[in-house]
Amino acid sequence: MLRVENFFAGYKELRILFDINALVEEGKITTIAGPNGSGKSTFLKSVFGLVTIQSGRVLYKSKDITIIPPHKKTMIGIAYLPQVENIFTNLTVEENLRIAGYTLKNEEYKERLNLVKEIFPELKMRLKQNGGALSGGERQFLAIASALIKKAELLMLDEPTAMLSPRLASDTFNKILEIKKHN
Ligand SMILES: Nc1ncnc2c1ncn2[C@@H]1O[C@H](COP(=O)(O)OP(=O)(O)OP(=O)(O)O)[C@@H](O)[C@H]1O
Ligand SMILES: [Mg+2]
Repeated sequence: MLRVENFFAGYKELRILFDINALVEEGKITTIAGPNGSGKSTFLKSVFGLVTIQSGRVLYKSKDITIIPPHKKTMIGIAYLPQVENIFTNLTVEENLRIAGYTLKNEEYKERLNLVKEIFPELKMRLKQNGGALSGGERQFLAIASALIKKAELLMLDEPTAMLSPRLASDTFNKILEIKKHN
């Protein structure tokens, strides 16, 4: 699904990632583990096109997507959930989801919205509330739901359970598995 080869990336001249090689197989959940500051978020950001790739390449379904900008990656089925600032706090839950699903046709969007309501009953009750009025856990659900609604084939989730209680973290992993079944 995704192959990263001899990948060097960082922030302008500052190099953070050195010669990374990685393989993500279709139908599987792949995790990246490492200490704080080791470059996990930088890796996801650079694969999505938000951080300068200094050399190496990224292949998605065998196609070279190294220099494709983020909005085009969204169009070809890649969704990225940032670790922080991953919802619009001044928009309602419904507006957040509508923006996240902007690439879908109306009918498709409605279908996906129903799926989101099914998997995230917590959000269904709060569609008209501002994102900023949600709890930390509910915000995280909205962020994950925003990735799910896109009908992406490759979901790149950065710390989807950060700051959640063990119970909510476990719920979140179950929701991710649920998402996987529908994609
Ligand atoms: N916008 C930025 N500009 C410059 N350096 C940055 C920027 N963002 C991150 N870094 C640096 O890149 C390095 C890797 O950070 P990154 O956020 O990728 O780590 P991480 O593995 O995701 O950490 P955490 O587990 O804390 O989320 C750190 O040294 C950090 O200071
Ligand atoms: Mg991180």
